[in-house]
Amino acid sequence: MFITFEGGEGSGKSTQLRLLVDYLQSVGIDALATREPGGAPGAEEIRRLLVEGEPGRWDPLSETLLHMAARRDHLVRVVRPALAAGTWVLSDRFADSTIAYQGHGHGVDRGVIDSLYRIVAGDLKPDLTLILDIDLDTGLGRAAGRDAGEDRYENMDRAFHERLRQGFVAIAEAEPGRCKLIDAAGTIEDVQARIMAAAKAQFSDHLS
Ligand code: TMP
Repeated sequence: MFITFEGGEGSGKSTQLRLLVDYLQSVGIDALATREPGGAPGAEEIRRLLVEGEPGRWDPLSETLLHMAARRDHLVRVVRPALAAGTWVLSDRFADSTIAYQGHGHGVDRGVIDSLYRIVAGDLKPDLTLILDIDLDTGLGRAAGRDAGEDRYENMDRAFHERLRQGFVAIAEAEPGRCKLIDAAGTIEDVQARIMAAAKAQFSDHLS
């Protein structure tokens, strides 16, 4: 199974991903935690180009191409071999971040994003995408000061963050079978309970 976690800044998805991996391993499922941009040595080098520096350092299409190059490397070196070996792969961000950030946020054409996705990933689709939704003030407040140096997206303007939040909601509405919108307000335990319910519903054959 391929599970992706998505959401805006400070939605708590990295913590929640870790908790789900721990749970899966506790019930005997081989599970791997990874992330985008990154997750493989080459892709991690590309990550630095994307998450560090001035918000305007890339034009939107160049930025999209860098995310797709990182994605290709991650898929070829890590994700596809793990899935082929029967390992469950849990990725902290994946393709829906490109639609939300570069598409809704920066205005890159959806047809261009979809075409590039098909080139790098073919027909691969996550089996479950958990989209963590949090109000902007809480999310940006949580994210502030974290990951020293990795603040390029955090520093984009508020309207950008509003557009991408709406983008994620639209993605969830468009693909309700794959995507579950999770309210990320409340305690870590509250959010974990919502995620566990969504995962058990999606994978009822594997999780009780
Ligand atoms: P994070 O996962 O640690 O939050 O940082 C990665 C940043 O990269 C985040 O701000 C969102 C951004 N991003 C995109 O803009 N497009 C993408 O396709 C991906 C995977 C991430």
